[in-house]
Amino acid sequence: MQTELSTTLGVEHAVFGFTPFPAVAAAITRAGGFGVLGAVRYTAPDELARDLEWMTAHTDGLPYGLDVVMPARKVEGVTEAEVEAMIPDGHRDYVARILAEHDVPPLPEGETSGWRITGWMEEVARSQLDVAFDHPIKLLANALGSPPPDVIARAHDRGIRVAALAGSPRHARHHRDAGIDIVVAQGYEAGGHTGEIATMVLTPEVVAAVDPLPVLAAGGIGTGEQIAAGLALGAQGVWLGSLWLTTEEAELHSRRLTAKLLAAGPGDTVRSRALTGKPARQLRTAWTDAWDAADGPGPLPMPLQGLLVAEATSRIQRHGIDPLLGTPVGQIVGRMNSERSVQAVCDDLTRGFEKAVDRINRIAGRA
Ligand SMILES: Cc1cc2nc3c(=O)[nH]c(=O)nc-3n(C[C@H](O)[C@H](O)[C@H](O)COP(=O)(O)O)c2cc1C
Repeated sequence: MQTELSTTLGVEHAVFGFTPFPAVAAAITRAGGFGVLGAVRYTAPDELARDLEWMTAHTDGLPYGLDVVMPARKVEGVTEAEVEAMIPDGHRDYVARILAEHDVPPLPEGETSGWRITGWMEEVARSQLDVAFDHPIKLLANALGSPPPDVIARAHDRGIRVAALAGSPRHARHHRDAGIDIVVAQGYEAGGHTGEIATMVLTPEVVAAVDPLPVLAAGGIGTGEQIAAGLALGAQGVWLGSLWLTTEEAELHSRRLTAKLLAAGPGDTVRSRALTGKPARQLRTAWTDAWDAADGPGPLPMPLQGLLVAEATSRIQRHGIDPLLGTPVGQIVGRMNSERSVQAVCDDLTRGFEKAVDRINRIAGRA
């Protein structure tokens, strides 16, 4: 699975893996792909520094990257407390009602809700970048728009390539104009924040829009055959997120969630604003249903919804409340049917890719 881009970057396979777990990111890199660690869940810079050090020690000198979340529309000069104060009481009552309906206990004494979505505030993302630039990352990716010009310049000064996710050709052109090196064309099927255009339609449009910049196809890719399809559409590689969630190295907060993912079919996800205030594909649960209900108050805009639900999410996860338990995941969840090591997943991708290429060659009468 080699392309011009994978050769330039010094990786064996043009497979980029986004994951919130350092052990998974390092294993993707060791398996010949390009592991990219998601930074959004890190609230303390020293935790990120510790994990990047660990990644460096466990990637045999091979390249890995970091993904930060800098929203295109920033919350500037406002503290987290001031943002919290904007949350209407009616919404807080609605959260309390959902939790009461499902008998969700409070967090144990002394435990605080871990994930505060503060990683979406520019100042937090910037403190993560200060840490990241002290480590040998080779790629910096941004989820919600092009990073600011000074960040792109700092990365380029250190020989770090900059990637950004795009859900439309318009986003992609914006990234190109901002000086981004690699555009990730992420389709509607993908886990996490997504636009409305499917990968099959989006990829060739983005390839044409930013030519000659390299494009990675993302969204709905979980087999080698789908990797071959991405390359056939003009991509220089693929970017996978969901598939790694059920690997042995992943550290999901509960076994029950892993079981839910393994059992889910391709129709069991929903693109909902329930988690963050922006449309994000995730497992459909009683939680997403409550926020999408016509008689509910509906989600707040980002970043308010994220702050509103942070504690509730921690309680649901801590106590493994089955009907409410979810995670961002894409439609490819229907193919995630067994727990395997990252290496086994990568071997499978390689085999499927080779099979697909052989099949196309046969069809084209070349073999
Ligand atoms: C659990 C999860 C969390 C994600 N969080 C982020 C994130 O913080 N930043 C980001 O750029 N993309 C994030 N994404 C999207 C991935 O980077 C990737 O584009 C997407 O998963 C690709 O589609 P797929 O899920 O079909 O593989 C997330 C995806 C998942 C499944």
